[in-house]
Amino acid sequence: MSKLRTIGWILFFTSSIVSGANTLAPSVRLNNGLEMPVIGLGTYLANEGECERAVRDAIDAGYRHIDTAYLYGNEKEVGNAIRSKIDEGAIRREDVFIVTKLWNTFHRPDQVEKAFQKSFENLNLTYIDLYLIHFPLAYKQVHKDGSDRTPQSVDDVNLFPNVNGRPVYDDIDYVDTWRAMEGLLQTGNVRSIGVSNFDIPQMERLLSQVTITPVTNQVECHPNHNQLPLIKYCNDRNITVTAYSPLGRPYLAKNNLAINDPKVQAIAAAHNKTPAQVVLRYSYQNGAIVIPKSTKQQRIKENFNILDFSLTPEEMNVMNSFNNE
Ligand SMILES: NC(=O)c1ccc[n+]([C@@H]2O[C@H](COP(=O)([O-])OP(=O)(O)OC[C@H]3O[C@@H](n4cnc5c(N)ncnc54)[C@H](OP(=O)(O)O)[C@@H]3O)[C@@H](O)[C@H]2O)c1
Ligand SMILES: *[C@@H]1O[C@H](CO)[C@@H](O)[C@H](O)[C@H]1NC(C)=O
Ligand SMILES: *[C@@H]1O[C@H](CO)[C@@H](O)[C@H](O)[C@H]1NC(C)=O
Repeated sequence: MSKLRTIGWILFFTSSIVSGANTLAPSVRLNNGLEMPVIGLGTYLANEGECERAVRDAIDAGYRHIDTAYLYGNEKEVGNAIRSKIDEGAIRREDVFIVTKLWNTFHRPDQVEKAFQKSFENLNLTYIDLYLIHFPLAYKQVHKDGSDRTPQSVDDVNLFPNVNGRPVYDDIDYVDTWRAMEGLLQTGNVRSIGVSNFDIPQMERLLSQVTITPVTNQVECHPNHNQLPLIKYCNDRNITVTAYSPLGRPYLAKNNLAINDPKVQAIAAAHNKTPAQVVLRYSYQNGAIVIPKSTKQQRIKENFNILDFSLTPEEMNVMNSFNNE
């Protein structure tokens, strides 16, 4: 059996761990020895007024991993939800894994700690579990009021600097940004660091130049873009892959999305599951951590409920046929 299959089966067999009223998802051990739950709640576009409730519903449903980012503008709501669940006695801080991300306008090494500090204050938790470089590219830092003034605070920064709609990049090497990320670990306010949207050549270059290996690479990953080569590359090096947009972002209504396909509907029917559950299960069985986003309570539950069935090799082959990117 391949290493990935082995990991998949280990995850499958440990999935029946029960704690309190909820069945929780199992965790994977990261390369720094810490543990990360294999199902998390995504929060991109979980907007003001709905994000806090969604995170509370997710904790109730058994999620113990929440994915946010400075960019999403909802770190305060995520933090409020987690603190309220801690105050209620439903969870302890160490039971839940909180991920946030360094935005592209803060890649200059002297800006990394300042940007982290802002996210840390927004979340208002005793520590952050994982901080990611959101993208392997840097934007120039300019004031959001359009003036030439130097932004005085993180919130003064234009997050999408552009000229006629084209992003204005800055010439900062992500290796230098990563070294500043390594420095954050010494503060004790963040326990793990990782990257996002890195391809294999970028991973290769980073790993050859730095001392601390990222614990995860968070990338777009779903049947239409299954990332099997990147998953193998990372897992061979004890780096997890976190699958973002694991449902394929159905709201973009792209053609041929697996979640809408009759073949996936048939597989779902055979297991008494939904197409969304089959799609999530596929990336999970390939060895990825999945972070579906929903703000609807029923779907939050549905997306978590992928641990009590498994796709056969034939069904995995059908799912493999959707890969087209
Ligand atoms: N690192 C990065 O660059 C990056 C980029 C993108 C995303 N992410 C992270 O990954 C998370 C997930 O990705 P995503 O939000 O882009 O896309 P996604 O999880 O693939 O899809 C979310 C969309 O699917 C709908 N949905 C949720 N559950 C469903 C179900 N069971 N059946 C049918 N539709 C369902 C949601 O609507 P409702 O909310 O109305 O249910 C929402 O519109 C993000 O929230 C974010 O945390 C990271
Ligand atoms: C990955 O790293 C962790 C922590 O050091 C270790 O316990 C685990 O055995 C490693 N796994 C593999 C497959 O090397
Ligand atoms: C931050 O958390 C502390 C303790 O949990 C709480 O007393 C305080 O009100 C919170 N601050 C904000 C701005 O929410």
